[in-house]
Amino acid sequence: MSKEIIVSGIRPTGNLHLGNYLGAVQNFVKMQYEHNCYFFIADYHSLTTHPNPQDLHQNVRQVLVEYLACGLNPDACTLYVQSDLPQIPELYMLLNMHAYMGELERVASFKEKARTQPNNINAGLLTYPVLMAADIIIHKATKVPVGKDQEQHLEMARTFGNRFNRMYGKDIFPEPYAFNFGKELVKIPGLQGGGKMSKSDGDNNVINLIDSPELIRKKMSRAVTDTGPSEPNTAPSAPVQNLFDLMKIVSTEDKLTFYQQAYANCNIRYGDFKKDLAEDMVTFLTPVREKIADIQSNNELLKKVAKIGKEKAAESADKTLAECREAIGFRGF
Ligand code: ADP
Ligand code: TRP
Repeated sequence: MSKEIIVSGIRPTGNLHLGNYLGAVQNFVKMQYEHNCYFFIADYHSLTTHPNPQDLHQNVRQVLVEYLACGLNPDACTLYVQSDLPQIPELYMLLNMHAYMGELERVASFKEKARTQPNNINAGLLTYPVLMAADIIIHKATKVPVGKDQEQHLEMARTFGNRFNRMYGKDIFPEPYAFNFGKELVKIPGLQGGGKMSKSDGDNNVINLIDSPELIRKKMSRAVTDTGPSEPNTAPSAPVQNLFDLMKIVSTEDKLTFYQQAYANCNIRYGDFKKDLAEDMVTFLTPVREKIADIQSNNELLKKVAKIGKEKAAESADKTLAECREAIGFRGF
């Protein structure tokens, strides 16, 4: 397999949960040893919501800590904070000159935000896809591991890269495409009976990597079930199936089979089921929680990691920007 250049960013909005870990970060950990990976914390992007400085700093720090605890290795990948790279806003500005109001206004995420926050429809929100394109193409990425919700943004990154190439008659940017690690995307279900584990559905829907054993037990005990199977051998309702799916991840096969049979025989006791699942969840997450606690206070390490990441990312970004500036006609004397 040939090496791809991979870029992915995560907005620093709080703690990582089990869904982020199994659906994204664990894949990053594998990819870093197989490809040329750039992983960054998208703190410029989070400015669209006007975070207060203390929260912003804290959230960026926390994502960095949790990324490292999950196994991202700064020697194997380039791990950096987006705002450490002024090259990104420079490319963003250059791309903005060829990004048109009409196409930006038609972006689904912009329309959604304009509807839900009518009092803060700022230009940063409108040009969010341009900034994201700059993130990606500044390293000449070919693959971007993102979910379906980012497909339109990715398409725009291809559009802006191609447009720049065509405009200046240079072949600077390759086309970036979505990267699916493995055959299928995992979807980790939430605890409230609905769809996926997501922080937008509240803290009780998610198990965060830093949740204490007590908190995990409490959240699991409150996980939504149903009134119980009404006759033998029926398919579980969605909320119960969600819990079986979680059990598939953290428990042994024997235990899963035991509860699936109990369900099929109509003698499952949800209290015991959830307690058992909670204990396995605690066991599953304890190593990463301890790692987070370990790194949490190690400011020297964080400083070092951010510095190395910044240097490595800047090297690649500077090269691309130099090509762009030359192509545009900023040539010096
Ligand atoms: P949230 O939905 O909690 O806001 P994000 O959208 O910030 O999470 O997720 C960041 C990444 O984590 C996504 O690109 C996706 O790949 C992954 N992810 C999030 N939730 C899940 C989940 N429930 N199952 C699988 N992957 C997930
Ligand atoms: N927009 C992405 C999200 O909301 C985050 C992001 C910003 C990103 N820049 C990126 C993802 C570049 C991949 C590549 O999840």
